[in-house]
Amino acid sequence: MSKVKNPNIDTLTEEIQNSNYKGASAAEVQSHYDINDVSDDFYRLWLGKTFAYSCALWEENEGYDELDQAQMRKLDLHAVQARVKGAQRVLDIGCGWGEQLRHLVEVHGVEKTVGLTLSNSQAKRIKSLENPRIEVRLEGWSEHSPEQLYNGIISVGAFEHFSKLEISQEEKLEGYRNFFKRCHEWLEPSGWMSLQTVTYQNMFREDFNSFIIQVLPGVDLPTIADIAKASERLFEIVTLQNDREHYERTCKAWLSRLRANRATAINLVGQEVVSRYEKYLTLVCLSFHSGANGLVRITMQRIDNPRY
Ligand SMILES: C[S@@+](CC[C@H](N)C(=O)[O-])C[C@H]1O[C@@H](n2cnc3c(N)ncnc32)[C@H](O)[C@@H]1O
Repeated sequence: MSKVKNPNIDTLTEEIQNSNYKGASAAEVQSHYDINDVSDDFYRLWLGKTFAYSCALWEENEGYDELDQAQMRKLDLHAVQARVKGAQRVLDIGCGWGEQLRHLVEVHGVEKTVGLTLSNSQAKRIKSLENPRIEVRLEGWSEHSPEQLYNGIISVGAFEHFSKLEISQEEKLEGYRNFFKRCHEWLEPSGWMSLQTVTYQNMFREDFNSFIIQVLPGVDLPTIADIAKASERLFEIVTLQNDREHYERTCKAWLSRLRANRATAINLVGQEVVSRYEKYLTLVCLSFHSGANGLVRITMQRIDNPRY
């Protein structure tokens, strides 16, 4: 249970204590992000310099070779949306290989960043940075127990792991609500949160492509309505932009890099895995192209006097 004590949270805390986390397990998350000992090398081949495994923020005329630049722009966007310039403490939930944490410290003057991940290889890489202002914890958000409040929270491309197709819509909403309750509890009064996630848009949950689940086990998506419902009376949604075409471009850039580095990739993980990732990225491109999936970037502000 969280050690942070905020006014207005006693009721919330009790409710959360009675709930079990029903999103992707650590083993499911690790099966995707921790491929033997070669995970970092394989992902770096196609994710590029920033190691960002989420939708970039593109300018109109940029080409696929400018992926790193578009990813840096995305890192800036979340720092700005979370209003954390010069902040003392910022939490990144689902921090990947740690570039957002590093960017916050090095570019936005954040004193201390804390990242949560369930991936061993990601945690290992972040620890290897040996930066005392960057802390990584190998734990899920439902186990997180901070000593102090955060000034801002960022979560990019992780919400997709917070539910599973096997659970009911009610359980899914309850899980999402618990997530927002926790974030509410950990944030300073009037604090900001920046959230980015893929959504179900023009498709039903039942239509989720079974091939994608083989590559990314323990995955499910919210609708925009699910996010609004789960966060109501805890957070005020201040901005929401849908950038699905940016994710189509990002996936095309990843695919083009993977193909350009095919021989090296095969050396690292074998032909079968490379073909599987090519198919997976192609399917994801199509789902953004068709509008089946959306990609939302949301700015939320903590409501300090929530009505129960
Ligand atoms: C697609 S990656 C995104 C990483 C990073 N935010 C980025 O944009 O590159 C998803 C991340 O969510 C993390 N994750 C999954 N389930 C989680 C949970 N319950 N709590 C915290 N992190 C989780 C994974 O370990 C991984 O770091």
